[in-house]
Amino acid sequence: MKKLLILLLCLSLPVSCSPRQPPPEEDPPHFTVIGVSQVGSESGFRVANTESMRSVFTEEAGYRLLFDDARQKQENQIAAIRKFIQQRADYILLMPLCVSGWDSVLQEAREAGIPVILVDRTIETADESLYAAHVGADFQWEGEQAAAWLENAFQGAKGPVNILHIQGTLGSSAQLGRSAALEQAVEAHENWNLLAQLDGDFTQAKSYEETAQWLDSQAGPPVLHAVYCENDSAAFGAIQALEERGYSCGAEGVRIVSFDATRQGLTYCLEGRISLEVECDPMMGPLVEEVIRTLQSGSTPDKHYYTQEQLFTPEDLSRALIDRRPY
Ligand code: AHR
Repeated sequence: MKKLLILLLCLSLPVSCSPRQPPPEEDPPHFTVIGVSQVGSESGFRVANTESMRSVFTEEAGYRLLFDDARQKQENQIAAIRKFIQQRADYILLMPLCVSGWDSVLQEAREAGIPVILVDRTIETADESLYAAHVGADFQWEGEQAAAWLENAFQGAKGPVNILHIQGTLGSSAQLGRSAALEQAVEAHENWNLLAQLDGDFTQAKSYEETAQWLDSQAGPPVLHAVYCENDSAAFGAIQALEERGYSCGAEGVRIVSFDATRQGLTYCLEGRISLEVECDPMMGPLVEEVIRTLQSGSTPDKHYYTQEQLFTPEDLSRALIDRRPY
């Protein structure tokens, strides 16, 4: 009877008599944590490369990005990797400043079970298993394209071909590959003179300063046929120094060869001030994500994934084409 009364009471009440249930707890969202050690922001290429990582590894896509800008210092990159290890990143992306000096810190990442993917540049190590994969350009191939173009441009030259070389960050794989290709081509052509190799450090300011200083230190204005600039920023600096001193850059003057093919570089090319642009594609985020998915599925990715690149001369370009490009 008592039980029946309680039941009737419950049915008549607007609220339930069952004990109050706590709201179901939602599982915390699971993010894949990606530590990115970026070299710096020295060039248009670099800024676009960072942007590509940021646009792929978003929280909406299930990632948490730990980003560090090393401001062109290897020790900052090493410190960043150690921090990512402490923060228990799932993957580390490393855009290495230079080729050597990585073994110990990569060993630490391996001991912590964190795969490292090299992005853009590569490294030299006796133990290739210290990184899971590399995604980037083949810099030697790029340099060979530029050298082949120069060979064609100066094919019938009767006299010497005087070349000034503005190098990228010394010891980086981008510099080593592009410089080796030019040096081999100079060896192969008796009439090619490498007048000087200047350290442009992949920046406009350094390239301007070095080129201006070198030009001003010569006995008189040197006869220049070509300037081989290892990226667009270096080309902008060299062109500024040359033009300020009365040189004209282009088909009728000094041939400027450059790498990256950023929108600004291609604009100089459209104007004829840069004669050849060898593309170096910074938009590597999607390819890097594919490598991460391969690793997540338990498969072994290829060791190297090379970006597809092309060459541009003024004849290939239009304003519309440049504006459509993503960087
Ligand atoms: O490693 C690629 C090079 O690094 C790019 O050509 C240059 O612009 C950059 O900063």
